[in-house]
Amino acid sequence: MSKTSVIKIGGSLVSESAYSNVINDLKESGLKDFIIVHGGGNEVTKYSKALGKDVVFVTSPEGIRSRYTDLETAAIYNMVMRKISSDLVLSLNARGFRAIGLSGIDAGLMKAERKKRLIIVDERGRKRAIEGGYTGKVKEVDSDLLLKIIGLGITPVISPVALGYDGEMLNVDGDRAASAVASALNAERLIVFTNVDGVIINGRVKERMNLKEAREVLKAVGPGMDKKLIACIEAVEGGAKEGVIASGKVERPINNAINGLRTVVEGQ
Ligand SMILES: Nc1ncnc2c1ncn2[C@@H]1O[C@H](COP(=O)(O)OP(=O)(O)O)[C@@H](O)[C@H]1O
Ligand SMILES: [Mg+2]
Repeated sequence: MSKTSVIKIGGSLVSESAYSNVINDLKESGLKDFIIVHGGGNEVTKYSKALGKDVVFVTSPEGIRSRYTDLETAAIYNMVMRKISSDLVLSLNARGFRAIGLSGIDAGLMKAERKKRLIIVDERGRKRAIEGGYTGKVKEVDSDLLLKIIGLGITPVISPVALGYDGEMLNVDGDRAASAVASALNAERLIVFTNVDGVIINGRVKERMNLKEAREVLKAVGPGMDKKLIACIEAVEGGAKEGVIASGKVERPINNAINGLRTVVEGQ
């Protein structure tokens, strides 16, 4: 069990440049060992459109919506994620941290299995199989490398881009990448920061749940939040002590994620 906290900064916060509260509070809260994983889906969409590239989303039979990533989209995705990573690193370093931007490609930090075929549900509700494109599911994270980097007093900022087993670049989901990192490190906690206070059920934030309850609640959770709850479940199953979903917009997000109004998925 490491003392590391894995902090996911959602795309919703990146596009609003709203992560400054999180970074200020990282300094204030004195949290020692942490790793940042970021998202950026909305930014990828914005830049794709600006570059004249069609943006296509597909829906799985389970109802999970994801970006269809052809080779050009993969290149844009990587470019935009690098930009977001640099912005975050600049912001951290301006506050006295020593952060370094890494994607899964760098030193083979994060390896993923490419989804060769995707089963999707089309507009008429029919299932069909399509070419998988360049997306993958994270299978390996080099936790030794991350611990060594942290040991040097350097904060890794990880982009959700992975290395495929055939040497290709793959788009991976940011929430799931964060849970893979938290699992690999048996992290103290995974905190998924987003633009709402937590998992809202019947108009209220569900504050605590065990794994069994979380799997049950998942059925009632909508797009966006579903991946975060899955990430917390997978992190806890993978050996993290707890998974937290919290707002990154409150004044002291770290403090709030640990002690305030948020959703916690508890480990056994
Ligand atoms: N049950 C739920 N509780 C809270 N948020 C939900 C729920 N179902 C769907 N959502 C949506 O999930 C969003 C967060 O996911 P997402 O937009 O992907 O954020 P991020 O960019 O941080 O990954 C919320 O803003 C909300 O609109
Ligand atoms: Mg999201």
